Amino acid sequence: MIEQVPEIKTIAVLTSGGDSPGMNAAVRAVVRAASAYNIEIYAVFHGYQGLIEGEFEKVDSNFVSNIIQRGGTILKSARSLEFRTEEGRKKAAKNLKDRNIDALVVIGGDGTFTGSNILSQEHGINVVGIPGTIDNDIIGTDETIGYDTALNTALEAIDKIRDTADAHERMFLVEVMGRDTGFIALETAIACGAELALLPEELQDINEIKSQLKNMLKEQKRSSVVVVAEGDETGGALKLAEKIKDDFKQYDMKVCILGHIQRGGSPSAHDRVLASRLGAAAVKVLLEGHSEVMVGIVNNALKITPMRVAVSKKKNLDYALIELAKLLR
Ligand code: F6P
Repeated sequence: MIEQVPEIKTIAVLTSGGDSPGMNAAVRAVVRAASAYNIEIYAVFHGYQGLIEGEFEKVDSNFVSNIIQRGGTILKSARSLEFRTEEGRKKAAKNLKDRNIDALVVIGGDGTFTGSNILSQEHGINVVGIPGTIDNDIIGTDETIGYDTALNTALEAIDKIRDTADAHERMFLVEVMGRDTGFIALETAIACGAELALLPEELQDINEIKSQLKNMLKEQKRSSVVVVAEGDETGGALKLAEKIKDDFKQYDMKVCILGHIQRGGSPSAHDRVLASRLGAAAVKVLLEGHSEVMVGIVNNALKITPMRVAVSKKKNLDYALIELAKLLR
């Protein structure tokens, strides 16, 4: 018999911000864990906007059947401007209180956590965050839900690009997602054997980039793949091509922007397991009395991080991996 802490009788769950593969697996785990503890559960649709507009549905275990393998989020997602206002958050809190909801589980990235932390401070709502974003840019967890799947999606695409690059002896500039951080760019670059990775974390002068590419081409490489993070200071792959194409005319340079393809698709086994662990952990830590925290996995163990810490700084890339990418290119 599972012992239930009396304070938490009803919880709500939502997904917010950019969706990521595995969000559904996390929703499933929250709902199933809550049911196991005899806690009532509401699904909130369209993220914080739905919280404001009262898009609630009381759900049970059956609601999350057959979703663990699906990409996207059955709860839908949104970036709500209204929730950034005091008025918006007041409406959201009222909707939660009207339904006697004691706690809210939010699945998303740093913007999502910032929002729920303010909601908790202003209106005393218990909140727990689950990190779900393909960007992997959240401290307090080794990986965010969706990152592994996005990496593999990008990798599969780049492997295909490599075939045609090789056949035509071309240079491809491939842009991957990562508005502020280069996690996807760095690890796909290592995994696909890219000739160069351009990351927001590393400032590089355009002449430096050109000379690195020229040195590499001296080594008799006939085709090449440069992985560019969308947030790189060069301005992304299209802008980079404009800046360097005249120096590499013999390569018939091509640009490929992978874009939102990286956000979709069936989650990898790794993301499904991570999401299942974190979804169940979110319910457990609420029952243990935590609030304004994010659950993560660090060194294969559950880690609870205050939300204000989770959003306070940027997660650093592993410097050793940056060096590895350079050593092996
Ligand atoms: O989910 C994070 C992210 O994928 C960033 O890497 C990217 O810049 C952004 O979302 C795109 O967001 P949207 O779909 O709102 O354009």
